[in-house]
Amino acid sequence: MRNVVDELNPPPRRLMGPGPVDADPRVLRAMSMPLLGQFDPAFTEYMNEVMALYRQVLRTDNRWTFLVDGTARAGIEAAMVSLLAPGDRVLVPIFGRFGHLLCEVAARCGADVRTIETEWGTVFEPDRIAAAIREHRPALVAIVHGDTSTTMAQPLAEIGALCREHGTLLYVDATATVGGMDVRVDDWRIDVLSTGLQKCLAGPPGSAPITFNERVEARVRERRHIERGIRPDGFEAADGPVVRSNYFDLGMLMDYWSDSRLNHHTEATSMLYAARECARIALAEGLDDRFERHARASRALVAGLDAMGLERFGDQTRKMPNVTGVEIPAGVPGDAVRAMMLEDFGIEIGTSFGPLAGRIWRIGTMGYTCRKENVLVCLMALETALRAHGFRAPPGEAADAALAAWSSP
Ligand SMILES: Cc1ncc(COP(=O)(O)O)c(C=O)c1O
Repeated sequence: MRNVVDELNPPPRRLMGPGPVDADPRVLRAMSMPLLGQFDPAFTEYMNEVMALYRQVLRTDNRWTFLVDGTARAGIEAAMVSLLAPGDRVLVPIFGRFGHLLCEVAARCGADVRTIETEWGTVFEPDRIAAAIREHRPALVAIVHGDTSTTMAQPLAEIGALCREHGTLLYVDATATVGGMDVRVDDWRIDVLSTGLQKCLAGPPGSAPITFNERVEARVRERRHIERGIRPDGFEAADGPVVRSNYFDLGMLMDYWSDSRLNHHTEATSMLYAARECARIALAEGLDDRFERHARASRALVAGLDAMGLERFGDQTRKMPNVTGVEIPAGVPGDAVRAMMLEDFGIEIGTSFGPLAGRIWRIGTMGYTCRKENVLVCLMALETALRAHGFRAPPGEAADAALAAWSSP
């Protein structure tokens, strides 16, 4: 007997955790298109289209706007390893798990990592970041926009100007917010920003759009290097230290994504199709309308949770609209409730980690998942699962409250 397993047949689910969430079927269709060679003019034209589309999605004129292959952390790694040489100083304001991830990546680059921290569930006042920049005088400030671990979003509008004043570059991890909350790379004077597809952009994990300006380009060029086997005649490497990663060297990626098309990795064809479709869908909906849809879903979900008598987690003035933290009521077994939602209703909601482990659930209403019927079905399933585990929510009130909130302006 041949040792084979069955054809893939994943159980139907509504993915309503902090990501990945359901991909838009149009994105999945785009991914099933035939492959092309990476230097086929049809494919290089798609690469150019992707650059133009993501300039619009990220509200930037940056020439260097392209995809890093890999999940969202590939974008983080590319920015960090290309900008931070051993000993370079970076300041990371930490307000959740992904701030710690930025530190971890920076430390692996050999950077001199300085941090400030605030309690999970809160974010920073700009003054506190300004004081830390003055104290540490970093070459780079690296910060998360929306941290899914706490469901909070850090206001960024003033941080870019602060960094300019002090000659510091600003990197932003906007994995959880692009496509669901306003992100203005140029207006907010962000030097380099990366994201992922699997949250508010309604795609699968595996591609990390990145954008950066000429300040970053200049820094990257100081470390310019080309692999020996593809080096053009007469090429002279720059004086700066070689970037410690080949795959994530932004300088070599620039060569690949520019007219010189200098061979680097094999572009992940199907992921590029996915990224292209995600951006097309977001822009066709209209970014502002899309943000309003996320805000509306958040209002409806919150109205339903309140009607059930549940407490929300964190500073509600800083809550992301696309993911909501809910306190697990005392005496309720959080994992058993989640398991019942998955097994009996086919709905996945998120658990949490670090200081919030066992304390909150996280419910995502992002991208393609961000729809009225999902909010309603999720609330009804949660209500039933809570009742089964001894928490008495007033029957039916959550869905009624959510419906009413959805319809109000
Ligand atoms: C804010 C933030 N940054 C980075 C990541 C890491 O993304 P990935 O798992 O796609 O590498 C996530 C994933 O949840 C995230 O929410």
